[in-house]
Amino acid sequence: MSFEHLRDIYKAELSDAQFDRLGTLIMRETGIKMPPIKKVMVQARLKKRLRVLDMSSFDDYVNFVFSPEGQVSEVIHIFDAVSTNKTDFFREPVHFDFLKGQVLPEFLEKSNGGLLKVWSAACSSGEEPYTLGITINEFVRQHGGFDFMVHGTDISTLILKMANNGIFTHERVSPAVPDELLRRYFMRSKDDTKKTYRIVPELRQKMRFSRLNFMDDSYNLPEKYDVVFCRNVLIYFDRPTQEAVVSKICNYLKPGGYFFHGHSESLIGMNLPLKNVRPTVFRRI
Ligand SMILES: C[S@@+](CC[C@H](N)C(=O)[O-])C[C@H]1O[C@@H](n2cnc3c(N)ncnc32)[C@H](O)[C@@H]1O
Repeated sequence: MSFEHLRDIYKAELSDAQFDRLGTLIMRETGIKMPPIKKVMVQARLKKRLRVLDMSSFDDYVNFVFSPEGQVSEVIHIFDAVSTNKTDFFREPVHFDFLKGQVLPEFLEKSNGGLLKVWSAACSSGEEPYTLGITINEFVRQHGGFDFMVHGTDISTLILKMANNGIFTHERVSPAVPDELLRRYFMRSKDDTKKTYRIVPELRQKMRFSRLNFMDDSYNLPEKYDVVFCRNVLIYFDRPTQEAVVSKICNYLKPGGYFFHGHSESLIGMNLPLKNVRPTVFRRI
């Protein structure tokens, strides 16, 4: 790529009208709110797409996005570019404590050796579903009694690929994952220069990852779940969208099953088949 081309990309600006067009598309397809304050972030992130596509202006880019070819091949990259994937191992730890202290003992008592099914909805790069897997496996190691599976879904195919690989840098796992769990559930890369860790195959085998867009009319999942984590994603949607999404999720939650949302989110005032059991934790009626 020539110096002139790189300079054009560096200078390229997304106009208000272009941002509006893209924002309307993003909101319609993903539910993610696109207030004007996000323009600078969108512009910066989409410059990477200009480079990949060898384009030097947002005029060319926006025209491409709305062309028949762009609608098929580019829209998915816009979602990857604008979504916030921030996540961590053991994020909002009280949820994992509640799981250990109440949800898992209850399941052990009534399950008769059954399979605990957990859904990490909007799982990002996998830290949340693997933390669920580690927490449940620790419980099962001590108490036995049942098997489990964790299904992670997200709109972003890029992020799902990372989740499926189960490879994390040293900074991602330390200090978030206690040493004992790090030794038990992560394999250090043999290449000493890399400093990466991979989730052990025994745990990866219990995971399943697939793409799911909350804006779809119905989620078409093959099963119902005992536990659903849907954390730190509702916050990007407006209230009617939040209510519609949680309502559809409830169709896949078993009666008595648990629903968790993030601590900066709220379902207060919504008409949902859920009973509040503690802040951010609900049971399916
Ligand atoms: C901030 S991350 C939250 C990750 C994890 N649940 C946690 O709490 O750490 C939000 C995730 O929601 C996903 N997301 C955004 N809009 C979505 C949609 N319409 N359908 C499904 N996932 C979506 C993003 O791709 C991103 O990975």
